[in-house]
Amino acid sequence: MSYPTITEQLDDPSSARESGRKKIEWARQHMPIMTSVAEEFADERPLEGEVVAMAMHVEAKTAVLTEVLAEAGAEVAITGCNPLSTHDDVSAALDDVDNITSYAKREVDDEEYYAAIESTLEHDPSVTVDDGGDLVMAIHEDYPELLETVIGGCEETTTGVHRLRAMDEDGELKYPMFAVNDTPMKRLFDNVHGTGEASLSSIAMTTNLSWAGKTVVVAGYGYCGKGVASKAAGQNAHVVVTEVEPRRALEAHMEGYEVMSMAEAAEVGDVFLTTTGNRDVIVGEHFEKMGDGAVLANAGHFNVEIDLDELDDMAVSRREVRDGVEEFEMADGRRLNVLADGRLVNLAAPVALGHPVEVMDQSFGVQAVCVREMVENSDTYGPGVHEVPDELDREVAEVKLAAEGIEIDELSDEQREYMDSWQHGT
Ligand code: NAI
Repeated sequence: MSYPTITEQLDDPSSARESGRKKIEWARQHMPIMTSVAEEFADERPLEGEVVAMAMHVEAKTAVLTEVLAEAGAEVAITGCNPLSTHDDVSAALDDVDNITSYAKREVDDEEYYAAIESTLEHDPSVTVDDGGDLVMAIHEDYPELLETVIGGCEETTTGVHRLRAMDEDGELKYPMFAVNDTPMKRLFDNVHGTGEASLSSIAMTTNLSWAGKTVVVAGYGYCGKGVASKAAGQNAHVVVTEVEPRRALEAHMEGYEVMSMAEAAEVGDVFLTTTGNRDVIVGEHFEKMGDGAVLANAGHFNVEIDLDELDDMAVSRREVRDGVEEFEMADGRRLNVLADGRLVNLAAPVALGHPVEVMDQSFGVQAVCVREMVENSDTYGPGVHEVPDELDREVAEVKLAAEGIEIDELSDEQREYMDSWQHGT
């Protein structure tokens, strides 16, 4: 195995472990769903004998998921799913746990990033847990022998699910994958509230600038864009939305935001935040029009939404002006500030903590029960992308409501019969 574990890479792994352990404990204390799942898993050991490979943002909440899978009996090998999002101390604390090996390290180059992915695959996983689809791609392209033994996997994010569906449509996806992203318990909370809160707080902490009075341009009015727009409006920013999908554009319009093309928005925006999962959303013609001091950040999965190569070509100089802020000076003296190298700002900015703990409790609660489902009922799922069974998502919602002390009504038999019937009319 060529790529070293995090423990082998750090100068002082023991102090890193200590700091990482504190972060994990804090997160775990605030994750009632994961606590409940962990109790059940520790009792029943549903993953006994399985090997789980994970490529995710390795920070405290992900660490809790990793530990819960190990407590369920699995051997787990984990690495990052983004070169900038790993917290090395958390990675070191994980690597110290029995049955867990962590290769995740912050600020790796492309070669190291993929070498770490390959190292997780050298553990011969039977289950994969991805955020963005890189493990699935690596298995299909470079480790086809694993297709014989992998029973299935789970995908965390929109971009990963898009990649898997495209693969599936081409008949190229050779094992079953749950679209965890698409469940209500994940997407309606993580993408909306998580991305909204975490992106705005990361930008605010990275720049130390206020939202109030700013014009914030949100590119994409999907789940993430909606969250960002509403939280920015809640901080007294003036919000502009750009879209390519007419119904989403109208939705933004009816929800009170100004909707315009990026060409127009470039002239009025103070802060630009991309949430499209697409490439080349902000390019040269837009950089031309932006005002001095504009702040540019991305919350989509890959760093392709802002064309940094073109910005670099247009700039006369670039320099780091704050930790996580790079200033590109244009020939006419305007300065455009790019955060976190255009990588997802809520996880890759130096101060970023990722989504709030409570939100990830839900997302990872769904992940954990999906891994259990894939192992226990693997024969039910053929190769391809599968919706998560609704009862699993409800199970997680019920645990969360109980933890919050919230009671809801139950359908009576008469109501159930009424709702299921087509014969009742006036
Ligand atoms: P979504 O599919 O609900 O929304 C994307 C929206 O962008 C769509 O309405 C689409 O029409 C629009 N769009 C596409 N190209 C565009 C363009 N050129 N200009 C303007 N709008 C455009 O997807 P969702 O769930 O909102 O996810 C978006 C991205 O965020 C994905 O890459 C996803 O993986 C990522 N993500 C990031 C998180 C984070 O922690 N930062 C958390 C969850 C998802």
